[in-house]
Amino acid sequence: MKRRQFLQLAGLGSAAVATFGYGFKVEPGLLSITRREVVMPNLPGDLDGLRVAMFGDLHYRPDADEPLVQKLVEAVNQEAPDLVAIVGDYLEHDDAVIPQLLEHLAGIRAKHGIFAIMGNHDGWYSVGSRVKKMFKERGVDFLINAHSQITIHQTRLAVAGTDNVWDGNPDIAATFRGIAKDTPTLALIHEPDYFDTVVSGRANILQLSGHTHGGQCRVPLIGYAPQTVTWGKKYIYGEFERRASKLFVTRGVGTTGIRVRFACRPELAMLTLRSPEVLVQE
Ligand SMILES: [Fe+2]
Repeated sequence: MKRRQFLQLAGLGSAAVATFGYGFKVEPGLLSITRREVVMPNLPGDLDGLRVAMFGDLHYRPDADEPLVQKLVEAVNQEAPDLVAIVGDYLEHDDAVIPQLLEHLAGIRAKHGIFAIMGNHDGWYSVGSRVKKMFKERGVDFLINAHSQITIHQTRLAVAGTDNVWDGNPDIAATFRGIAKDTPTLALIHEPDYFDTVVSGRANILQLSGHTHGGQCRVPLIGYAPQTVTWGKKYIYGEFERRASKLFVTRGVGTTGIRVRFACRPELAMLTLRSPEVLVQE
């Protein structure tokens, strides 16, 4: 091999090592904050500007993820959100980490409440009643095929949540039963691809989902996610609209399987909800 070829190969080799090092050692801890406005169906003008902090898929590994979760809690509190929505997958293989995770999450402050749901990993390695009890003891409103209605500025808002879809028993009718058709409704559902099923029976919702991790590793510049998951193949990341309903999918905070992320940083999504009424006037 000539000297020039050797140097080229050595250069490529060190670039590959640096890229792998970044994906394994650096990016999984690099929390990002995504701020975006989302037009929410049925949102009355007096709730225009309501701010929701949304995150999920922590897959909490206490040995590696403690600094990341600390950063997350600090970032949420700095944003001073009106509501917090946590969209499932707290654990990777063992629900013994949930109390430790909740030690951190209990530090979150939200003006009008913290809401959470089951993810598929929580359903695989624990049971809904057990996870719900742990969250409720920490003041989190944990929704499994249920909803809560809260009043902000004398206006009603519903926050609904299903069981995990992959391995649970999601019940759309039970989840939304009792919510008036014109009440603005946030629907927390771990698996984004369930959106198509939900909107066939319920119009005018804003669904918030996780599950995909945005692909966890993406191809830079084009954003292609080579890895997809059951119930997370169609809606991988970002905002979507169907039958007058909206869906937002977050990239999540943690990692599943190998602790690696690439071009797909951990995410806290700060959603500012906009009212169609107000936007018409602007
Ligand atoms: Fe997940």
